[in-house]
Amino acid sequence: MYKSIIKPILFLLSPEKAHHFTLVILKVMLAFPGGRWLFESLYRVKDKKLERTVFGLTFPNPVGLAAGFDKDGKHYKAMSALGFGFIEIGTVTPEPQAGNSLPRLFRLPADDALINRMGFNNEGLDEMVERLKKGHPKGRRW
Ligand SMILES: Cc1cc2nc3c(=O)[nH]c(=O)nc-3n(C[C@H](O)[C@H](O)[C@H](O)COP(=O)(O)O)c2cc1C
Repeated sequence: MYKSIIKPILFLLSPEKAHHFTLVILKVMLAFPGGRWLFESLYRVKDKKLERTVFGLTFPNPVGLAAGFDKDGKHYKAMSALGFGFIEIGTVTPEPQAGNSLPRLFRLPADDALINRMGFNNEGLDEMVERLKKGHPKGRRW
């Protein structure tokens, strides 16, 4: 389904628009009653063999989302429904910055790859800290 339907639609958009569009769609789907449950049932794998304890933290599996995808910490709750063992947010800089001018993300279809020279666009450290304080009450796991 991805190759025959979803990918051709996403490829009608620029890579950066496709990134934002996908996140909006994911958030809408998760907001439907049962949406989060459905995604978690499909993508979360619970298996003790996959757990890893590193520096005193236990992760449900060793596959994480690398920094750069959720630069401002806006999407980690949505991404957690996809089964990642951990999510690294950022890069965030002390001051907000716009990043490089567009276009700054390029598809290399023959290589199934992207060239990314975003230039660390982000809303800055203070915004992210406030967002995390509001969105991540102490002790709650996403
Ligand atoms: C602390 C840290 C911050 C990073 N920030 C970004 C970022 O803002 N944007 C980005 O495209 N990649 C960033 N990266 C690189 C990606 O997380 C990732 O390492 C890169 O896409 C290569 O992926 P790979 O290690 O799976 O090959 C960061 C990596 C680290 C360790």
